[in-house]
Amino acid sequence: MTMARIGSFLVLLYLTYALTLCICDDETNYGGSERGNLFPGFYRSSCPRAEEIVRSVVAKAVSRETRMAASLMRLHFHDCFVQGCDGSLLLDTSGNIVTEKNSNPNSRSARGYEVVDEIKAALESECPNTVSCADALTLAARDSSVLTGGPSWTVPLGRRDSTSASLSGSNNNIPAPNNTFNTIVSRFNNQGLDLTDVVALSGSHTIGFSRCTSFRQRLYNQSGNGSPDTTLEQSYAANLRQRCPKSGGDQNLSELDINSAGRFDNSYFKNLIENMGLLNSDEVLFSSNEQSRELVKKYAEDQEEFFEQFAESMVKMGNISPLTGSSGEIRKNCRKINNS
Ligand code: HEM
Ligand SMILES: *[C@@H]1O[C@H](CO)[C@@H](O)[C@H](O)[C@H]1NC(C)=O
Ligand SMILES: *[C@@H]1O[C@H](CO)[C@@H](O)[C@H](O)[C@H]1NC(C)=O
Ligand SMILES: *[C@@H]1O[C@H](CO)[C@@H](O)[C@H](O)[C@H]1NC(C)=O
Repeated sequence: MTMARIGSFLVLLYLTYALTLCICDDETNYGGSERGNLFPGFYRSSCPRAEEIVRSVVAKAVSRETRMAASLMRLHFHDCFVQGCDGSLLLDTSGNIVTEKNSNPNSRSARGYEVVDEIKAALESECPNTVSCADALTLAARDSSVLTGGPSWTVPLGRRDSTSASLSGSNNNIPAPNNTFNTIVSRFNNQGLDLTDVVALSGSHTIGFSRCTSFRQRLYNQSGNGSPDTTLEQSYAANLRQRCPKSGGDQNLSELDINSAGRFDNSYFKNLIENMGLLNSDEVLFSSNEQSRELVKKYAEDQEEFFEQFAESMVKMGNISPLTGSSGEIRKNCRKINNS
């Protein structure tokens, strides 16, 4: 054999090897999926344009209203903390199902359900009965980050949708804005997430808004003695009181990140250092614990560090207890279980 022939033989051998590896990998992963593992190529042959479809609907929605990126990201979080990322949050009340949409954390607050419907309709028209609502929402959360200037990451896929919801799970598992530092961390720990995840994921409060009712306690009566939270910067507090009076204006909105509520960046962490975190649950990350404070400082100093950790923690949160294999179903309509 000439050198050239040996060369092309080796190339061919390598290509065969690479192809085999790739197929094997897929099969291993597929088998893994039956055991609860997700993988990025899940829709490669069944719905190759799935990610593109989700991205284009989310992009349209966010261009209509920037806040929608924040709202979709939060929906994913509130889905994942209740029975895992299984689309349970998206179910309306019907039959045996009591919707999670009326829980304390969600009622008059969680939003974006119509956009999820739009995403799902677009997916159904191209690939019927194929892409789960849970996966659609996970992808939408990633796209929301990218569209507001935040990091991108590869999303493991293959989640299936629940046939149940849990109102009590929604009330008990999702942290409240006036929870103590320890309660917040333990609610994350219950989901397999650690302190680094708490701090990095709280960084999503770099976008979006909160209602007055979620932080009023800090402005007027933090500890039940009629005094405001002393860890709140005074002129910032005075500003907040104008839109959030002692009584009334419950639904009035304030930016979670006073600097750039429409831009995903690390200014949230800079705010915390200035005592200008909006929610009590934000400020305690800086004021209550040494290890947490160091993470806040690190992300305030280095946006890249924050972005990398945020991406990693979002994947981790997205992987909470998925339904895979033959459990759950692929809902046709995210608001109701099939055959209902
Ligand atoms: C650490 C515990 C957390 C607490 C106590 C908390 C609490 C809250 C509260 C009270 C609001 C305002 C709701 C309202 O008044 O309508 C809010 C908004 C928001 N949260 Fe969290 N959150 C936490 C973690 C997270 C995580 C992990 C994410 C996502 C990864 C997230 C994403 C958001 C977003 C994007 C908004 C703005 C939503 C919008 O403008 O529609 N939060 N959060
Ligand atoms: C937290 O807020 C809820 C709802 O506003 C309230 O009922 C509860 O008493 C508050 N908890 C503490 C410890 O302040
Ligand atoms: C502050 O809260 C406490 C307990 O929740 C209540 O008894 C008290 O009346 C409140 N004070 C003011 C000034 O609102
Ligand atoms: C709600 O906010 C608007 C606009 O900032 C303000 O004019 C209004 O007075 C607020 N509502 C209450 C009850 O303070």
